[in-house]
Amino acid sequence: MLKTHSCGELRGEHVGQVVKLAGWVSRRRDMGGVIFIDLRDRNGKTQVVIDSGRSQENFDLAQQIRSEYVLQITGEVVRRLAGQENPNLPTGDIEVTATEVTVLNPAKTPPFQIDRETAVDESLRLKFRYLDLRRERLQRNIILRHKAIKFIRDFLDQRDFVEIETPILFKSTPEGARDYLVPSRVHPGKFYALPQSPQQLKQLLMVAGYERYFQIARCFRDEDLRADRQPEFTQLDMEISFVERDDILDLIEALMVGMVKEVSLVPLASAQFPRISYREAMERFGTDRPDLRYGLELVDISDIAGKSAFRVFAENAAAGNPVKAIRVPGCGNYSRKEVSELEEIAKANGAKGLATMALDPDTGEMKGFITKFFTVDQLIALTERLEAEPGDLLLFASDEKLVVYAVLGALREEMGRRLGLKDTNELSFCWVIDFPLFEETLEDEHYAPSHHMFTAPKRAHIPLLDTDPHAVLSEQYDLVCNGFEVAGGSIRIHERPLQRKIMELIGFSWEEAEEQFGHMLEAFEYGAPPHGGIAPGIDRIVALMAGEPNIREVMAFPKTAQATDLMSDTPSYVAQKQLDELQLAVLSQEE
Ligand code: AMO
Repeated sequence: MLKTHSCGELRGEHVGQVVKLAGWVSRRRDMGGVIFIDLRDRNGKTQVVIDSGRSQENFDLAQQIRSEYVLQITGEVVRRLAGQENPNLPTGDIEVTATEVTVLNPAKTPPFQIDRETAVDESLRLKFRYLDLRRERLQRNIILRHKAIKFIRDFLDQRDFVEIETPILFKSTPEGARDYLVPSRVHPGKFYALPQSPQQLKQLLMVAGYERYFQIARCFRDEDLRADRQPEFTQLDMEISFVERDDILDLIEALMVGMVKEVSLVPLASAQFPRISYREAMERFGTDRPDLRYGLELVDISDIAGKSAFRVFAENAAAGNPVKAIRVPGCGNYSRKEVSELEEIAKANGAKGLATMALDPDTGEMKGFITKFFTVDQLIALTERLEAEPGDLLLFASDEKLVVYAVLGALREEMGRRLGLKDTNELSFCWVIDFPLFEETLEDEHYAPSHHMFTAPKRAHIPLLDTDPHAVLSEQYDLVCNGFEVAGGSIRIHERPLQRKIMELIGFSWEEAEEQFGHMLEAFEYGAPPHGGIAPGIDRIVALMAGEPNIREVMAFPKTAQATDLMSDTPSYVAQKQLDELQLAVLSQEE
């Protein structure tokens, strides 16, 4: 090696040793006659002293050196003078007096500072990703990611799981997004699809008898991107045979608790993950990925508001729709402008408007346009139900159930943010279980699976498939942390007739099903064991453990929100020759 030690490991006990270090120049300070260089590598920084009194040649060379030059230093470890120690640096007790300085490579001036966490435009960071990755924040995140994956591999290996790779060039497995397609040169007109997940293959591995499979699997989905969505991302993909739901929940819970304890920068709120039904999650939090770090829960007031003279409430309640409210402490003094900001959020989520009431901070008197439609008794009943106090703001929604959930769910989240209730120093996990098998709204007059078409209905609900499919609950479960869905899975259908029935309800003709999933349907006839699985999203979990707001911060080479790579300018045009070989014609090109 070009070095004997890393830049992070020298201590007082090394004083007197001659060492070789290699790394990047983090900072250079010229004190006239003496030059100090902070030499940096992945492990830390060491102060190097280049003294003209010792070697004019080294000193002259050091004067040419700039930030991010790559150096090799030979020198003696000496104790720093009393009072000149740096308690903020693990190597701060010592410095290395250089006897030999070699420039291994000079460097251009970087487009942003590497040695300090300054705010840098993200597109610049992405264009020079290799320099951003050299900075402390990303090094910390990428190493944390490595540790998380290592923990997962060890944990599952100890529990008899086998890691198996599955193909990237395969057939479409629908997970609800668009596929990325790869044209076949050998079979003109035919395409591979990059896997949205290895869902079919892992189920086939259960038919094949592997019993306990996992894979750190790359998945590809062409969908609208957000802070927690990338076009390619990584799942811990798992499948187990002869398993029941609670076995999987217990296993994943143990894995998460162990992993967070071992590698996370953010601690757990609780090592027990509450299990909440989908219905309860929607009714209390307005979402199936509830953030349990704070309250602001939705409260049903249909019985009280339905009797008021406010027409919207009365009519909705009469039609069986809910009237719900959330109480926001201390926001009763919101200005008209602030309330109309909230109204915009309500409208963006499907509401026609936003009804509010405010309790006077001194008198507790209830104010707001709609109060006049309530009797005094009704107002008292409302206050009691919502446990409202002087100074509070009350936000109401009444509409179809799903609109009410969406509106108040979004407002709860907004108010949680505004009130600073999202404690960034805790990870609050919960399970959401007992999902409906199908979405409430039909798609093209067919039932749409709430998870995917291989998810099993609850045994006791199978007869309802013939009479009331919307009432059927499934064996789906999601793991949620701080308001993000971090894993999804289910017990699967392992019998062909049941799979066929679900496909028909979803609107797959038997021919279509045969064409797309014939291999699976056939496999299920060769002794498919009962099985189930789950897929935690590694990027999301690592981002949460690193305290990062965006999964890009925990991926080495992420894409922008427009699904581009700014460093390599991907996607890009290809040569006509390549298109010809693939027998592809491009109809139009982006400017
Ligand atoms: P699902 O589609 O719920 O389930 O995905 C599982 C988990 O993967 C993560 N995830 C993503 N992370 C980053 N970017 C994305 N675009 C993205 N999409 C999903 C989330 C999510 O919870 N085959 C099933 C799993 C199963 O049934 O076993 C599946 O893929 O954390």
